[in-house]
Amino acid sequence: MIINENIADILDWFGPFHLADIQSSNEKSKQASIPRPMSIRVVQVTDAHLFRDPDSVLAGVSTWKTFRAVLEQIDRRHGNFDYLILTGDLAQDEELDTYLLLREALGDWLEHCRIIPGNHDNRANLRQAFPELFPNKDGPLTFALSTGDWKLIGLDSHLPGEIKGRVDANQLQWLQDQLRIGPSVQTLLFVHHPPMDINVGWLDKIGLDGAADLVDLIMASPQIKAICAGHVHQEFTGQIGAAKMYTTPSTSVQFGARTGQSFDTSAAGYRTFRLDDGYHTQVHRLSD
Ligand SMILES: [Fe+2]
Repeated sequence: MIINENIADILDWFGPFHLADIQSSNEKSKQASIPRPMSIRVVQVTDAHLFRDPDSVLAGVSTWKTFRAVLEQIDRRHGNFDYLILTGDLAQDEELDTYLLLREALGDWLEHCRIIPGNHDNRANLRQAFPELFPNKDGPLTFALSTGDWKLIGLDSHLPGEIKGRVDANQLQWLQDQLRIGPSVQTLLFVHHPPMDINVGWLDKIGLDGAADLVDLIMASPQIKAICAGHVHQEFTGQIGAAKMYTTPSTSVQFGARTGQSFDTSAAGYRTFRLDDGYHTQVHRLSD
């Protein structure tokens, strides 16, 4: 088992079988003689829906149990990541105690973590539990960092009291400023609510309100190579202009792809990215 997981790890992070799909073969051959940039390894976990009571269950799933199992699998198979991005819906009860338990569970990984909120989150409690990630006293909970040849940006689509999300004009301006700083730097954008429909009726109705402005900005920003979201508790791949738009399974409950609300029995999951002169991404599920 350990051997299989090690092989999976090597193939996923470093394997020559996963050359990025955003390069043409000409570009690849041109770059064959140029030293490849250092790979950046990013893991995304999303929609943990944790409770202050570690035995609480959501739709039949013990959310702490599956979350801890996901962290253990990441540790075994992808523990050498550079960044762990948590893309919202972290606390179903939105309680400070729950975020403090999350902080404890992340342990030494915290300095490699970045967090954005979902609809099931509370900004004030997140600020209190993770002051080093959110030094500002108010405003959206965003992040932007440069690493290797890449920039990682996280948007805050939380709309208090609502299930749907919104990225307001101020945040769009902030995003535009971030993109202006390095117009040629490849960018990976994270946001809880997907900025496009995933063709699942009930989820598309509670998506990102006013997504058109964000979509326009993405389409005008070719340096954005991919957008990565949560919220829909299932894997999906779409396209916005030149960028791919991915969603990622929850670490807890999975939703089905039917028009009406449904659940899916797929195992909890997470997503990895390997970023270099292109990128490779893959969804992983909890091993049996
Ligand atoms: Fe969620």
